[in-house]
Amino acid sequence: MSAPTNRRTAGGSPRLAGDAPHLDGARLLDVLGEISRIGAQPGAGITRTGLGAEEAQARAYLAKRYRRDGLVARTDQAGNLIVRRRGADPARPVLLLGSHVDTVVRGGRLDGTYGVVAACEVVRTLARLESAPAYEPVAVAFSNEEGARFPYPFFGSLGLTGRLDLARAATTTDRDGTALPDALRTAGGDLDTVGAAAWPDGAIAGYLELHIEQGPVLADRDIPIGVVEAITGRTIIDITVHGVQGHAGTTPMSLRRDALVVAAQVVLAVERLATGRDLCAVSTVGCLDGEPNVTNVIPGTVRLTAEIRDGRPERLRAAERALVAELSALGPATGTRIDHDLRRVTRPTRTDHRLRAAVVAAADDLGLPHLEMFSGAGHDAQIVARSAPVGMVFVPSRDGVSHAPQEHTDDDLLVAGADTLLNAALRLVADRW
Ligand code: GLV
Ligand code: MN
Ligand code: MN
Repeated sequence: MSAPTNRRTAGGSPRLAGDAPHLDGARLLDVLGEISRIGAQPGAGITRTGLGAEEAQARAYLAKRYRRDGLVARTDQAGNLIVRRRGADPARPVLLLGSHVDTVVRGGRLDGTYGVVAACEVVRTLARLESAPAYEPVAVAFSNEEGARFPYPFFGSLGLTGRLDLARAATTTDRDGTALPDALRTAGGDLDTVGAAAWPDGAIAGYLELHIEQGPVLADRDIPIGVVEAITGRTIIDITVHGVQGHAGTTPMSLRRDALVVAAQVVLAVERLATGRDLCAVSTVGCLDGEPNVTNVIPGTVRLTAEIRDGRPERLRAAERALVAELSALGPATGTRIDHDLRRVTRPTRTDHRLRAAVVAAADDLGLPHLEMFSGAGHDAQIVARSAPVGMVFVPSRDGVSHAPQEHTDDDLLVAGADTLLNAALRLVADRW
């Protein structure tokens, strides 16, 4: 796709001093290029897991860069970076724009980070607004959206919306035993005072998140802009299989209670939820840890995670129930004990029609074809949706690949998405709605 040529200004938007509403695409790409060095490993993508040193470094880089542009940048007690215009009325309700800068392990350069950099560029561009807006545009980089190291995904957006479970946060550790509160402190936050990161009711007028699609729909159809109608719900079930550890040479097969063999049956049962049984859209075991993990020892304990997603709450619940019933039967049938802990991470979420309309109008103004679509990936927008109306804009992902080093979107599409965010924001900050 070539760069959009339609330079029509958005009808009804408050005016920007200077040119038609396009942001500086070269700058956007430059900031993205620089930030993608943080946590990069040669040939192995980017590992910038939440509440770690690299995520803090990415925030520090953005803060420094945008302070140079005259914006105000601060990190809150939940580890979120917040970037706003200098001198704006602090009582003005906010149009929040953003995403996250943490990554999965060996992830790509765009998931989350693209939306944050574009949001900062939009706020920087809107510093040239000629009149006071009805809503203040503010950019945010939410901390630990992925939960890749500390298994508390959406930590930052839960903190900003006052929904953190403090007891759970206090007892969350990474696999090496590092406690989340200690990591948070190192990252510039503080669990003891994290309540201060929560914004009061009504402070967020709306939240708009720009993101790569992470799936194949837009790329397959060669459509540059996705307007998200709804976002998938997600449940994680932490499962532990307790078998009996033993000697791999002397224990007859008939006397074994091998935790890994039972875990293998769990893996297939999870896959069947979405395939053979069609109970949910997708189901995955992404994480499996056996003990003691030694060649000549029968595994005694295996921990694994089942992740189930669907856009309809009743289907998600049915899949949860089906898996729990299978686990309850499999333990006694195999002579093992299977414990599980079910966490409903996010519920299926609809976006708000007013934010969708602003995105559609923005894409139309820019001459960009668009498609209303569903998000199979989870997003901070789902958490914010419990407090304020939300919207999401997608751009295509090459071959639909994400959560992998090969994640890619062409530069002209990245700029087109950011321009769409800018124009939608211009419409949304203009008048109260
Ligand atoms: C978010 O990255 C997700 O796993 O959907
Ligand atoms: Mn992700
Ligand atoms: Mn993301």
